[in-house]
Amino acid sequence: MPAPTGILSDLDRVLLSAEEIHARVADMARQISADYAGQLITVVVLMDGALFFVADLLRQIDLPIRLVTLGASSYHGGTQSSGQVRLQWPSGVSFQGQHVLLLDDILDTGLTLAALHERLQAESPGSLRTGVLLSKKRPRASVCAIDYCGFEIEDEFVVGYGMDYQGRFRNLPCIGILKP
Ligand code: IMP
Ligand code: MG
Repeated sequence: MPAPTGILSDLDRVLLSAEEIHARVADMARQISADYAGQLITVVVLMDGALFFVADLLRQIDLPIRLVTLGASSYHGGTQSSGQVRLQWPSGVSFQGQHVLLLDDILDTGLTLAALHERLQAESPGSLRTGVLLSKKRPRASVCAIDYCGFEIEDEFVVGYGMDYQGRFRNLPCIGILKP
């Protein structure tokens, strides 16, 4: 095989190919479509990491969807969570009585999703579920139930398909591990 060029050449190895990701995202879309049949879903997306996942997922769901994006950060540029979650809450959006589906790219310490889950639960949604593309096999500092999970992966820092290292590598079509 020829040596990879471009941003792929910064990868030590590919963990999940674009094909594997797309097949699994299609499964998740089918399951979500069946579970929410006949309902309007309010999808709350954590930007920017979940951008590519959510774009691919939601385009395969044939149900009415209201999309709310928000920012949260706990990494502040490194490869380890700082343990502090900063939320940018959207103003003027009501979640009361809505069927809320909270989506993120990856579950690591679990702090981000747990913080948001708690914040959303306080808004009296009609229902609240969570989904992530990836979940790291590791002990969690905080937990909330995960209803939809794409893949379980080892506890390694990954990039691609939306996930970054210092703002780079989001546009990789696959998910991989960086060279040391
Ligand atoms: P948690 O709060 O520790 O679960 O972290 C979740 C957030 O950290 C995710 O929304 C990602 O943006 C980011 N994150 C966690 N692990 C990784 C990784 O391996 N690569 C890139 N971003 C990550
Ligand atoms: Mg994120």
